[in-house]
Amino acid sequence: MSNRIVELEILRYNPETDEEPKFQTFSVPCAEDWVVLDAINYIKDELDRTLSYRWSCHMAVCGSCGMMINGEPMLSCKSFLRDLPDRIRVEPLTNFPIERDLVVVMDDFMDKLDSVKPFLIPREEKTVDEGEFLQTPAQLSKFKQYTLCINCTLCYAACPQYAHNEGFVGPAALALAHRYNLDSRDVGRSARADVVASNAGIWECSFVGACSEVCPHGVDPAAAIQQTKIASSVDYFRDMLIPGRRS
Ligand code: FES
Repeated sequence: MSNRIVELEILRYNPETDEEPKFQTFSVPCAEDWVVLDAINYIKDELDRTLSYRWSCHMAVCGSCGMMINGEPMLSCKSFLRDLPDRIRVEPLTNFPIERDLVVVMDDFMDKLDSVKPFLIPREEKTVDEGEFLQTPAQLSKFKQYTLCINCTLCYAACPQYAHNEGFVGPAALALAHRYNLDSRDVGRSARADVVASNAGIWECSFVGACSEVCPHGVDPAAAIQQTKIASSVDYFRDMLIPGRRS
């Protein structure tokens, strides 16, 4: 443990007793190599056992520890205290309702994720005995980047479109739809188009790019959405030239 004391201002909210959220400050003695999540765990273990927040892996894999740290959406398990000032403001991810303290309600995101059919839709089903759907390394490389999403929803907290239009399908869900649309084993592009190519889908994105800036795994959802816009436009003109080609 170093001699450094960090002041953590944490937004607290208990819907059963509080009229509105308010900040509570904790002084935390920190080790050199701690991340913000370690400091929050210290508060939970030593100072206030009622503090609520989500985390699981502590290694930027599970995607559950997203928070606003000094106003930026970040994974608290990937945010080193040595890179932050002595006073740190920690809030729940913005653009989501607060369930309690740093825990947000994820229902809207889960519904949107579900709506883009984020799974392989093969041309024909196969039994396990019939083997895998094979793919070459070149085919995999077309979409591999988009498989790295951990559903942390930092991109939704950063997205100005989602902030103003809660109907927007949003960055992670659209990037995941693109991931499956690019997969050589998948034929579900038309089935996803009703949601993906709707006004609430790709066309709502104004390409600010904040989603890609905060993504902890470099998924680049902004690029996925722009690529989908191009593919969707090509579909539109092809459908005009060859009516019924996809039926
Ligand atoms: S605890 Fe799993 S991503 Fe941070």
